[in-house]
Amino acid sequence: MSTSTGPEGASGATPGAFVRPTPRPPGSVLPRAPRAPDQRGGDLDPGRTPVQLKRRTFAWLGLGAFFASLGGCAVKFFFPRAIFEPKTTFKIGRLDDFGFGVDDRLQDKYRIWVVRDPEKLFVIYAKCTHLGCTPNWVGSAGKFKCPCHGSGFDSAGVNFEGPAPRPMDRASVEVAPDGQVVVNVDRLFKFDEWDKSDGWKIKV
Ligand code: FES
Repeated sequence: MSTSTGPEGASGATPGAFVRPTPRPPGSVLPRAPRAPDQRGGDLDPGRTPVQLKRRTFAWLGLGAFFASLGGCAVKFFFPRAIFEPKTTFKIGRLDDFGFGVDDRLQDKYRIWVVRDPEKLFVIYAKCTHLGCTPNWVGSAGKFKCPCHGSGFDSAGVNFEGPAPRPMDRASVEVAPDGQVVVNVDRLFKFDEWDKSDGWKIKV
């Protein structure tokens, strides 16, 4: 006859052997095992698996993105994007503000040159008729010179050298009741229209 004092432990049960549970008194409650904290620092909801939790997070993210886009639409509705076109009609000053010859002070601002001779004042639109570059007035040479391919125009805007195929256009000119010269670069006249229209020149 031998006693159980081996590695099976103090209970004396052999590993793998059936152990009959100790009967509990009626009405007693088993102590609950502590829950493992989840990645957010809280307890795992025993009713949800990690996959369900991920789905829930994505659902909230989607909802947030939806409301964010709605907010963006509302901002666009109340603050519509406006496109501001440059003005094409403007007052450039009084006749006496311009002396005889070519005045290129407005080249950068309005892309025009104001030319005055003893009989009239007219405005040349500063756009080369070759490929559209802006020529410069070269006072020492008495001509407009295009920096792109070398076209030259005389002080009236007529081409005489380089690849430009025709003279430059002139813009509509009028004198307002207040004596201001009004230029409209939306209304341009080609060479063969220069003498047909009264709009591009005024007697001075
Ligand atoms: Fe002026 Fe070509 S664009 S010469």
